[in-house]
Amino acid sequence: MKNHVYRPFIVVVVVIALILVARYLYVPKDFGIYERGFMYGYHRKSNEAEWEAFKVKFRTKEYCKDCHPDKYEANMSGKHHVIQCENCHGVAIDHPENPPKLTIDRSRSLCIRCHAKLPYPTSKRGDLPGINPEEHNTDMECVTCHNPHKPDMEGW
Ligand code: HEC
Ligand code: HEC
Ligand code: HEC
Ligand code: HEC
Repeated sequence: MKNHVYRPFIVVVVVIALILVARYLYVPKDFGIYERGFMYGYHRKSNEAEWEAFKVKFRTKEYCKDCHPDKYEANMSGKHHVIQCENCHGVAIDHPENPPKLTIDRSRSLCIRCHAKLPYPTSKRGDLPGINPEEHNTDMECVTCHNPHKPDMEGW
């Protein structure tokens, strides 16, 4: 073989060798194709145990029902029934042991997160009833006027 063919050939061989070495060093030992073929089986086996050990953080509102029945009923009978208590009060997995009280956030930013009017015609976010936070009753907390547990505007 002539030199100008031979040299690039060596380069290719070296690159492939480097890739194989890197693969050997970086792919975890338990990575492979398990029972269920390429679609679901192509993964790192120990990842299954990691997800099993992953601690769930949220309770959902069924958990709050017996201890805070008034808030539960208000929420479920109003427009906010589609959202979770923990959307506003934070993670409740070990409450009331730890923490004994959940956060009460009266700030405008809590509500603006969902209610700032956004012009996204093709997204559900754009369908939420929205206000312009720079114009809508500025310098006052939203909960001065709106009930966070039952914000329904009917009869206003
Ligand atoms: C086993 C009963 C129990 C459950 C279940 C429970 N809580 Fe509580 N929660 C308490 C107690 C007790 C307090 C302390 C009340 C106090 O000191 O006024 C508290 C306090 C709170 C507070 C603070 C009230 C304040 O006045 O500072 C919030 C907010 C709250 N809980 C929300 C929730 C939410 C949301 C859930 C469901 C995800 C929930 N709790 C589930 C018993 C419970
Ligand atoms: C949209 C946000 C939001 C949602 C959803 C929400 N809360 Fe609240 N919650 C608040 C705010 C804000 C306050 C403080 C209201 C105030 O001081 O006027 C509050 C106050 C409370 C308090 C303490 C005040 C009191 O009167 O005892 C409890 C307990 C509570 N919420 C429980 C719940 C539970 C249980 C749910 C679900 C069923 C829930 N909240 C859903 C925002 C929310
Ligand atoms: C001074 C009382 C007051 C305060 C504070 C206030 N609002 Fe309102 N809000 C109203 C009134 C009254 C209406 C109905 C008339 C109108 O649209 O202005 C309304 C309307 C709305 C609507 C429209 C509901 C619909 O069906 O289209 C949303 C959403 C809303 N407010 C969210 C908020 C949020 C979020 C905050 C805080 C950033 C806030 N409001 C602060 C009194 C208030
Ligand atoms: C996680 C998102 C989320 C948060 C946070 C949130 N809301 Fe809502 N809000 C909603 C949804 C969803 C609806 C129902 C929309 C519907 O029925 O079309 C709603 C409805 C409303 C309405 C309209 C009621 C009506 O009759 O038209 C008002 C007013 C409102 N929320 C006020 C508030 C206030 C005040 C806060 C803060 C304390 C708040 N929201 C926090 C999602 C949220």
